[in-house]
Amino acid sequence: MPIQLGDTAPDFTQESTAGCIRFHDWTGDSWVVLFSHPKDFTPVCTTELGALARLKPEFAKRNVKVIGLSVDGLSDHVSWSRDIEETQGTALNFPLLADADRKVSTLYGMIHPNADNTMTVRSVFVIGPDKKVKLMLTYPASTGRNFAELLRVIDSLQLTANFKVATPVDWNHGEDVIILPTVTNEEAQRLFHGGFTQITPYLRTTPQPNL
Ligand code: BEZ
Repeated sequence: MPIQLGDTAPDFTQESTAGCIRFHDWTGDSWVVLFSHPKDFTPVCTTELGALARLKPEFAKRNVKVIGLSVDGLSDHVSWSRDIEETQGTALNFPLLADADRKVSTLYGMIHPNADNTMTVRSVFVIGPDKKVKLMLTYPASTGRNFAELLRVIDSLQLTANFKVATPVDWNHGEDVIILPTVTNEEAQRLFHGGFTQITPYLRTTPQPNL
């Protein structure tokens, strides 16, 4: 069964550049970004992993741990990480799972045989502190991801987990949000101290409530 939003993220034990990882223990109370990249010693992946390492403070600010994976072995991960440090100006600062036995990539459906049978696609799973899957993205090997977008959706996921709001198209942290249609106007008056604007009965906006 493919993983779907709201499912408990499957637990696993696997080797990594930071030692043996027991996933559910490792995640603790954090949010988690679990991502796959197709292959070590490849150019797009090199830029992606460098970018993620540079963004570590942004993930930390949001209580997010990052963990990567490919079906390469540990010794490849270790020697490739030296290239990443040299070419991207940042050392890897998160674990890379060495999934040579494909245990984790199979569990998470990260190999799409009709795209490529030998390597993982660019999958992203955002997992909440309750260990439920909150968001999934899948990119092909040829297209590097946009990690600013990943931070943007994490801001939305964390906000909407705590307030009765949703975020509109192209929303960014600090911008007005949408009040859930299930909230009455009376309740909205109590919940949103910044007041709200009613554009239609179902489209009401309010300043981001946790600022
Ligand atoms: C890359 O990371 O550059 C890459 C990896 C696999 C296939 C194509 C590109």
